[in-house]
Amino acid sequence: MTNQQTSEFAIEATDIVKSFGSVQALRGVSITARAGEVTSIIGDNGAGKSTLIKIIAGVDKADSGTVSLFGEEVSFHTPEAAREAGIETVYQTLGLIEDLTIWQNLFLNREVMLGVPPFRFLNKRMMRNEALRMLSELDVHIPSVKARVRGLSGGQRQAVAISRAAGWSSRVVIMDEPTAALGVRETAKVEELIHRLKDKGLAVIVISHNFDQVLRLSEQIWVMRQGSVITGLRAADTNGDELVALITGASSGAAR
Ligand SMILES: Nc1ncnc2c1ncn2[C@@H]1O[C@H](COP(=O)(O)OP(=O)(O)OP(=O)(O)O)[C@@H](O)[C@H]1O
Ligand SMILES: [Mg+2]
Repeated sequence: MTNQQTSEFAIEATDIVKSFGSVQALRGVSITARAGEVTSIIGDNGAGKSTLIKIIAGVDKADSGTVSLFGEEVSFHTPEAAREAGIETVYQTLGLIEDLTIWQNLFLNREVMLGVPPFRFLNKRMMRNEALRMLSELDVHIPSVKARVRGLSGGQRQAVAISRAAGWSSRVVIMDEPTAALGVRETAKVEELIHRLKDKGLAVIVISHNFDQVLRLSEQIWVMRQGSVITGLRAADTNGDELVALITGASSGAAR
């Protein structure tokens, strides 16, 4: 991998512009995220949060603007390319394949093979055991790693998607509303997992509508409104009332 000392930022997105037909989803957005910190992105529905992270993760292509990973400009044309560079993402839509089992989803596109080509076999037992270990980090009851995703609840699906991203991430993990379908106890476990990833030195980017969670988890908060970043704040310097005012436009915000 490339030298990580070239920038103080794990991720630096600069002047990102993106339109979908006549909808200007992003109007020149810039954010940064540091390694060893949780960076939150907040904003009302339609503010452009998911679009921004999909551009960072190689799902969507920006009309203009740049993304740098540890100071090096990158241009991922596919999510696989971003994953190879060490960026894992939990999408709002989760990105699981309904007809595959839990363990197959956890190992999607990274099947572990035994032997030497052309005599290679999928090491199923190893992948199932590893899948169990990945899921054990979260306190969400899962029937069996052999169960198909189709039969899982919203919270169970979310746990599988989070476990996959956390298990494979090496430099940056992005989570788009990771606890939206989870109860209080399960949410606490996900927050612990996020802390562990941060403590391992990863840059964690979280999108959340839960301001208490944002204030609990983050070091840095970016506030978006209608396709623009209104302000960036250190979590220690703000509070829930200020965040609400910034999101709704009752306060214009001053960068800190
Ligand atoms: N693939 C797409 N095609 C057309 N319009 C899109 C597409 N993706 C996003 N948009 C539009 O871009 C804008 C920003 O959407 P985005 O999903 O980024 O918002 P968000 O901040 O993630 O909202 P939410 O909190 O509801 O998830 C919205 O107006 C949305 O309708
Ligand atoms: Mg979204």
